[in-house]
This record gives sequence, C-alpha cells and structure tokens, in this order.
Amino acid sequence: MSEMASPDPEGVDGVRMTWNVWPRTKVESSKCVIPLAATVALIRPHPDIPRLQYAPLRCKTCSSALNPFARVDFTAKIWICPFCYQRNHFPPHYNAISETNFPGELYPQYTTVEYILPLSNSLNPSPVFLFLLDTCLIEEEIQFLKSALRRAIGLLPDNALVGFVSFGTQVQVHELGFYDMSKVYVFRGSKEIPADQVLDQLGLSTAGRRPHKTPAGVPGASVGGLPSSGITRFLLPASECEYTLNALLDELQTDQWPVPPGRRPARCTGVALSVAAGLLSACNPGTGARIIALVGGPCTEGPGAIVSKDLSDPVRSHKDLDKDAASYFKKAVKFYEGLAKQLVTQGHVLDIFASALDQVGVAEIKVAVERTGGLVVLSESFGHSVFKDSFKRVFEDGEQSLGLCFNGTLEINCSKEIKIQGVIGPCTSLEKKGPSVADSVIGEGNTTAWKMCGLDKSTCLTVMFDLSSSDRANTPGAVNPQLYLQFLTSYQDPTGQSVLRVTTVTRRWVDSTVSSEELVQGFDQETAAVVMARFASLKMESEETFDATRWLDRFLIRLCSKFGDYRKDDPSSFTLNPSFSLFPQFMFNLRRSQFVQVFNNSPDETAYFRMLLNRENISNAAVMIQPSLIAYSFNSLPAPALLDVASIAADRILLLDSYFSVVIFHGMTIAQWRNLGYQDQPEHQAFAQLLRAPHDDSQMIIRERFPVPRLVVCDQHGSQARFLLAKLNPSATYNNAQEMSAGSDVIFTDDVSLQVFFEHLQRLAVQS
Ligand SMILES: *[C@@H]1O[C@H](CO)[C@@H](O)[C@H](O)[C@H]1NC(C)=O
Ligand SMILES: *[C@@H]1O[C@H](CO)[C@@H](O)[C@H](O)[C@H]1NC(C)=O
Ligand SMILES: *[C@@H]1O[C@H](CO)[C@@H](O)[C@H](O)[C@H]1NC(C)=O
Ligand SMILES: *[C@@H]1O[C@H](CO)[C@@H](O)[C@H](O)[C@H]1NC(C)=O
Ligand SMILES: [Zn+2]
Repeated sequence: MSEMASPDPEGVDGVRMTWNVWPRTKVESSKCVIPLAATVALIRPHPDIPRLQYAPLRCKTCSSALNPFARVDFTAKIWICPFCYQRNHFPPHYNAISETNFPGELYPQYTTVEYILPLSNSLNPSPVFLFLLDTCLIEEEIQFLKSALRRAIGLLPDNALVGFVSFGTQVQVHELGFYDMSKVYVFRGSKEIPADQVLDQLGLSTAGRRPHKTPAGVPGASVGGLPSSGITRFLLPASECEYTLNALLDELQTDQWPVPPGRRPARCTGVALSVAAGLLSACNPGTGARIIALVGGPCTEGPGAIVSKDLSDPVRSHKDLDKDAASYFKKAVKFYEGLAKQLVTQGHVLDIFASALDQVGVAEIKVAVERTGGLVVLSESFGHSVFKDSFKRVFEDGEQSLGLCFNGTLEINCSKEIKIQGVIGPCTSLEKKGPSVADSVIGEGNTTAWKMCGLDKSTCLTVMFDLSSSDRANTPGAVNPQLYLQFLTSYQDPTGQSVLRVTTVTRRWVDSTVSSEELVQGFDQETAAVVMARFASLKMESEETFDATRWLDRFLIRLCSKFGDYRKDDPSSFTLNPSFSLFPQFMFNLRRSQFVQVFNNSPDETAYFRMLLNRENISNAAVMIQPSLIAYSFNSLPAPALLDVASIAADRILLLDSYFSVVIFHGMTIAQWRNLGYQDQPEHQAFAQLLRAPHDDSQMIIRERFPVPRLVVCDQHGSQARFLLAKLNPSATYNNAQEMSAGSDVIFTDDVSLQVFFEHLQRLAVQS
C-alpha cells in the first residue's frame, strides 16, 4: 500500500517518515542520502482514536506503554515489551483478559490511544491570558487594537483568567481587582528587572504575600486598600472582567512621551516581556498561561532593543546579519534566550502578534516563541485581515478552535538500534539522557524528552534519527524484522483535562544491499522535501558560512545517482522511479523559495516563515515550498495546473496557494469582461459562476488556515501580478543555455527554468 496514494497520508497516528522501510546499518542509511526522520502531528484529532479512562501499563524496564505490538501470553497473564523484550506481569485488575476480551490499548487498530488522567485537586486548570499591549502607536492603530481586544475578551471561556499590561517608554501593569478606579504599577523600561524584583514591586513576593502589605514608592500602590491580594489582583476571571477591561481600554492612550523629530519612539518591548513573565511567575506551578504580545514597532529601549532610536539608523537586514554588521542582534537574541528559559521553566507560552510596516524584532524574539510553543502572526497593520481574523481565531470555540493546549511533554522510545539526534520544531529539550540519545545533535537534542509549554491541533514536530554504529545488533536475520517507535505526549487540553496520548508505530527493517526495491517503495517524497527544507533552514541559521543551494544540490545529485536508472555518462538514458519523480521539482522550488533565497525578505519575515515551516503539518509545509496552482476556465472543471508561466492564459483564472498568501489571478480577457460587467447580465450566468468559483475556493482555504493568509486579487499585467509570477517556473522568460558551467558541481544559477535544472541534474547524476 502506497503512503502517498492514501487520501489521509498521516492516518490515525499523525506520523509520516522520509523512509517507511529502514536500512539496517548506519553505513547503509548514509547511502540512502535522505536522512531517517519522522514527523509527528502530536495531538491531531482523529475520530478513530479511543479515549481510555485509566492510566497505561508501563514496561518495568524501559517504561514504554503497553501497546498492540506487545506479545501477550493470555494464560500466564504476561506481556512482552517490543522495545526491550522485558516480560511484564499484568496487574490483578487485568485478570479477566483473554483472547476474546482485552483492553483498548491492545486492539490491533488502536496504535494511537489517549488516556484521560485524573486531575489532582490542588491544580487550577483555568488558563491564563495575559495581554501585553504596545502603546507607541498612531491613533488609528490603537483603535484597531482596542476593537480586536474587545472582541477577543467577549470570546474567552468564562473560567479563563485575564491580565493586562501595556507598554511604551515604560511598562504599566494594570490591577484589575477594582471596579471604580484603575490602579497601575509602573516599571522603568531602560533596565532589566529580575523576576523577584517584579514580584516585590507588585506586592507578590512570598515575603509580601502573606500579610498583605502595599509596597511603598510605587505609583498608585497606596490607593484603595481593598482586601484583594496575590496574583488574583492582576488576573480576573473573564466572566467578571468585561466591564473593567472595557473601561480600561476606553481610557488607554497612545504613549505620552514626546518623540523628537527624526527619532523612533522609546519602546521597551524586552522589559515589558520580562515584567509579564515575572508577573506570571506568581501563578501556581502547572498553570497554563500565555503572554499575548501585540507589538507595533521595534524595541528601542532597554534590553532586547534591536535598533537605536535614531531613524536614520535602519533596522538590520539579512545583508547586515551576513556581514556581522547588526550591532544589536546578538545581544538582543541573548536576552530573549534568557526570557525563553524563564518561560519554559515556568511552563508559560509567548505569542507574538506583530503588526507594522517596518520590522519589530521577530527574528530576535523568535527563540522565546519557538521554545515555548507560542503562536506568531506577522502583518502590516492591526487593521489588516491577516491580523484581525487570525487574532479572532485564537479565541474561537468549536470546529474553528485552534485547540490550544498547555503543559505538553513528549517522550520517545525506540528499538535499541535507533538513536535520536533531536527535534526540529516548537519545543525545548528537557535534557533527559538515555541509551537512545545520539552523539550528534540536530535541533533540540541530547534528550529523549521535550517540553511544549503550548501546543495545538496542528503542532507537528520533526524527529531526526540515526542508527547505532555498533552493528553487533544488526546482523541480518538474527533480530526482529520490525522496528518500533513510541511517542508519548502528555498535555492539558483546553478544558483543563490531563491527557496522555500514546502512538506506537512499526516499520520494517530491510537489508538494502539485498533489496533496494522495497526501500524505494517506502520513500515518501513529500515528507522528504519538507524535512530537507527544515534541515536546510536550521543549518542556515546555525552555521555561518552554510551555502544551502549547494548543499541541497549535492543531496539531490547523490540521490539521483543512487536511485536513478541510467547508463554511465549517458544523460539521455536517465529515468527516475515514480517513488522519486516528484522530488527534484520540490528541490527546484525549495531553492527558489523564501526559505533559501532569504535576501528577498527581511529577517523578521524569514523568521516568521521558518517558524511556520517548522510547526505545520506536511501538506501545509509542502505548499509553502511548492505552491499549488488551480486553473478555472469555461467548459472544464477546475484543474491543477503546472507551476509555470505557460499556465497563464487570457481566458483563464488561476488560484495560487503559497500558504502565506492566496492569489486569484484573472487572465486579460476575463478581466476585460469583468470590467464590462458581463457577470451582472442574465445571459452570462456561466461567466458569473466562473468568476465566483475561485473566490469560493479561496475562502475555503482561508477559513481553515492559521495564521489567516493574505488574499491577493489581481489581473494579468496588473501590479499585484508579481505575487503569482514570483512563484512560477520561468520557462518562457529565460534562456540560460550559455550560462551552464560545464563540469562544475555548482550546477544552477538562481533563476534557471525547471527544464534546464533537470538537464543539469541528469548530466551530473550519471557522471562516473
Ligand atoms: C504538567 O506536566 C508534567 C509532566 O508531564 C506533570 O507532571 C504535571 O502534573 C502537569 N501539570 C498539570 C497541571 O497538568
Ligand atoms: C523510554 O523512554 C523513557 C522516558 O524518556 C526512558 O527513561 C527510557 O530509557 C526509554 N527506553 C528506551 C528503550 O528507549
Ligand atoms: C550534549 O551533552 C553533552 C554531555 O552531556 C555536552 O557536552 C554537549 O555540549 C551537549 N550538546 C548540546 C548541543 O547541547
Ligand atoms: C493539515 O492541516 C490543515 C489545517 O491547517 C488541515 O486542514 C489538514 O487536514 C491537515 N492535513 C493532514 C494530513 O492532517
Ligand atoms: Zn520495555
């Protein structure tokens, strides 16, 4: 059965692999060129996953959970662990099991089960939403923000706790426990404030908490004297805070500090984030909390600043980063790394909604968002639909809900020949060493357990594997023909329930020197393309002189040499098995994509694209690399079209989905007819329908997606047409025949056509 042909390639388990049949040895696996990796959609809902109301049985040696691959001796009441071969006795309450009567976790089809765990009473499952609002904005933007917030607060579940911090030159923490007067604690924005000082000033330090005493010297602190103490003074249940928050929003003004001409406003985003994190450190341990930061410009004040206040000093570009000429960058990243550590220790999430024409520092703050499993949305304005509609989705319930969960932990168990190099995606290594930890590290490594302070329905991590180099265990035939992997994800779901999801998967080992046909059949091209994109992006960020184009070319040439069919030195004889045939085009588009051609974007945009590449499911990530194109015309149903300029025609409409934007492109004739209003005439119903179809389809895409993509509607030769053209294969535009650098292994310039690319590839792949 082919993985690619299935309509739901992730299946019940939400697991996809670059290779679905594994070579037995490290040497053989390196000959496979594309690394062994699995992507796991950790808590993707599926109707066929049973929910069991008890805790799992664990193997007494390796602590993996009982699963359908365990060998069970029903008479002796024993199960044998497929990971370590330990014999485990069933506990007394399993005494009734038999061949015809066994618990859910042993049903062969239940390779994924969810255990609903009892909650301990001391834990407060109410989620906390701490809004952090930038006030260095023009009046119009602040109005957009206020209305977005009002709408959000109306959507919050009643039991949610809400807090409010605003910032500009200084940080204001708003006490919400008062109905008739607003009380504010002010922090200076110019200096780092450790968490214990934040607690001290807010009257939340353990010393100040027991006998409630108001701290001196803090503006507003002596007002009131109501018996509200502790963190509840700052966090109010959503059901009670609507009035207070609305009053507060009514009064909220843009930052009042004067901004001299030629200067940027003093905006202390870094200190504001640290104050917010400090405030949350007073929550009970285990409370699911998120800081929802709404940021409208760059940090210029205090730690975490990314640029000076002088407007003639531009925000760093990729060129500056490349030349090591971004003087604020490293220091700011270091600051946000510290913030990330603090938040992960506390178990809290950072979400960033950045809306500005210029950059705000997403490239620097990224580490804190990604390590905590936060959300990120980048847009031009708080009035833009990308922000407005995405922000609303965060708080929506029901079918549209993002399914925001807290306090996630992933643990992985695997057959003993398998080593884990690390995870790429939104998580933090818990540095739990074990026998299956590989020596080499990729991404978050050195561990068999990871923390996800926040995770949701679409969170998808990439696990990079290696094989043990001792081949004692790998003598063909002498060992189990199957390999096993178990993913254990525990988390707190949106209702506060504790859930442990256990997914156990198996694949076959193959002795690839004997049978590479099986290996070939098990290659998943789409997953492989996405894994290569994530791996290349990671290397671009972490290795200074890394040349992604060259690196990807070498992989592709090696893959084609190894798995292509050809006569040596005869390019025309080259053919590729259907299992690989889509892969070169994926690599062609990856080389041209925003992930590799970073110089066309700002560092903030690149950081944003990569965060989403690393957290989305395979189908979504594949569209980011290689957009989908659908053509609409008279007399035929909408049909997929080649991603090529040749697909443009005057009497066609094209719908391009490149994930971050969705483009509706009208051919010239279509645009003319539309301008003449044919669609409004009764005799041109068919034209009206043709015009409407791509709009309806784009709405379906937009409704499903988070962040909400930008919708571009344009006409052939119009200025917005570039959004389509940039993604198409330039088959008709370029003639690169002279540019071929014969014999070199740097085969392609950036903008060659797909055909030229293939020709070079074939020539190099067949070279002896
Ligand atoms: C958070 O996760 C850890 C590790 O799985 C667990 O021990 C703890 O009880 C969880 N806390 C809550 C509130 O669910
Ligand atoms: C299984 O996972 C647990 C928890 O991470 C770890 O302690 C144990 O060593 C693992 N066992 C194997 C066989 O990987
Ligand atoms: C992994 O752990 C080893 C030893 O515990 C340490 O020396 C090494 O720096 C760690 N590597 C990373 C990337 O964290
Ligand atoms: C991937 O995520 C999208 C939502 O963003 C969802 O519609 C789609 O079904 C998912 N694909 C798989 C295979 O899970
Ligand atoms: Zn075991």
